[in-house]
Amino acid sequence: MLEETIRRELHTSNAPMTFKRFMQIALYDPKDGFYTKHAIIGTRENSDFSTDPENYSPCFGASVAEFIGRYAAEFSSDALQLVEMGGGNGTLAVDILDHLQEYFPRLYRRVIYSIVEALPRLAQRQREKLQHHPSARVHIGSALDVSFTHVNGFFLSNELPDAFPVDIVFSVRSKGLHRLCITEVGRTLDWKYVPVQDHETFSYLKSFGYGDDLKQLPGSASIRNVFTYGVPVNLDMIHWYRSLAGKLHTGAVLTFDYGFMTTEEHLFASEQSRESSVRVYNRNSSDRPTDLLKGIGKRDITSDVNFAILKHVGHQSGLTDIFFDEQKEFFLFFGAAMSEDNNFIALVQGKRLPPFYRG
Ligand SMILES: C[S@@+](CC[C@H](N)C(=O)[O-])C[C@H]1O[C@@H](n2cnc3c(N)ncnc32)[C@H](O)[C@@H]1O
Repeated sequence: MLEETIRRELHTSNAPMTFKRFMQIALYDPKDGFYTKHAIIGTRENSDFSTDPENYSPCFGASVAEFIGRYAAEFSSDALQLVEMGGGNGTLAVDILDHLQEYFPRLYRRVIYSIVEALPRLAQRQREKLQHHPSARVHIGSALDVSFTHVNGFFLSNELPDAFPVDIVFSVRSKGLHRLCITEVGRTLDWKYVPVQDHETFSYLKSFGYGDDLKQLPGSASIRNVFTYGVPVNLDMIHWYRSLAGKLHTGAVLTFDYGFMTTEEHLFASEQSRESSVRVYNRNSSDRPTDLLKGIGKRDITSDVNFAILKHVGHQSGLTDIFFDEQKEFFLFFGAAMSEDNNFIALVQGKRLPPFYRG
């Protein structure tokens, strides 16, 4: 039971547990974490969450393959490396490779496709799904620590940084920044608000525009308000992007996720719609963050990505923008069209494929 794991860790450290550590355990504990044990990734019915590669299959993969086809012509190297991180069911990988094989056969023969997946259970599923593409490899490991260097090709991910464990930081009136933590009261786990002291978190908030505009909460703020007005501090995302940029020799980093284009948009959304940017899901429907300490490991926890941060870090690390827009625009730009009844249709060199997305 994860509650026991957390309690043990609290006793050993004799200090409150950060939300980031809590999220790490709840999602990725090797025995009872949500992704290890429960998560069913798929289309809408009977899954814990539906993801774009499944719902837009094969449109999503086809558009990515068209993107790769367009830019790969600029590469001089023989082998073209495609490194996907956090592959889920392996649907995106299969759709990309199927499309390259059919429409870019010469390029396909140069491709080495690798998935870096944290969880053995999902890695196994990806291997099974990729059997008909012999060049594809699945490595168990972390995207935060990919072993590939001098990559000539593309780093890809869909809905990965939203699944990185984050801290939740908020401002308490006249008492400064606090971080959401977990502690034990009697035999029960409970929330605790702890002052922020580390330089990295202060600098994250300041650098990315969260300074003085944060809502000032009372010291007795409800946990619901902490989730609504708190900022997810995704330090792993920064380290991840910096390290990818450093490992890329020629090519691009393709990141698909949901969230905000700017910090202003994020602050405006929490003020206007009072929607938390750290969300909890239970069997595909939104759950109350207040229930998080019950049934730990049975719910998904995700946080909105602030793309302004990714762009900033990318630019600092020497990357330049090729395309920055909504996913639908990416589809439309790189190979799909909209039919009269609002379905996506793949267009390959002017040829229409059958509709593949309804809804
Ligand atoms: C939200 S799911 C998205 C799956 C897939 N990309 C999709 O869109 O269907 C997140 C995926 O990332 C994996 N993952 C999470 N953290 C990871 C990490 N640090 N390194 C590699 N994979 C990770 C999870 O196991 C899961 O496969």
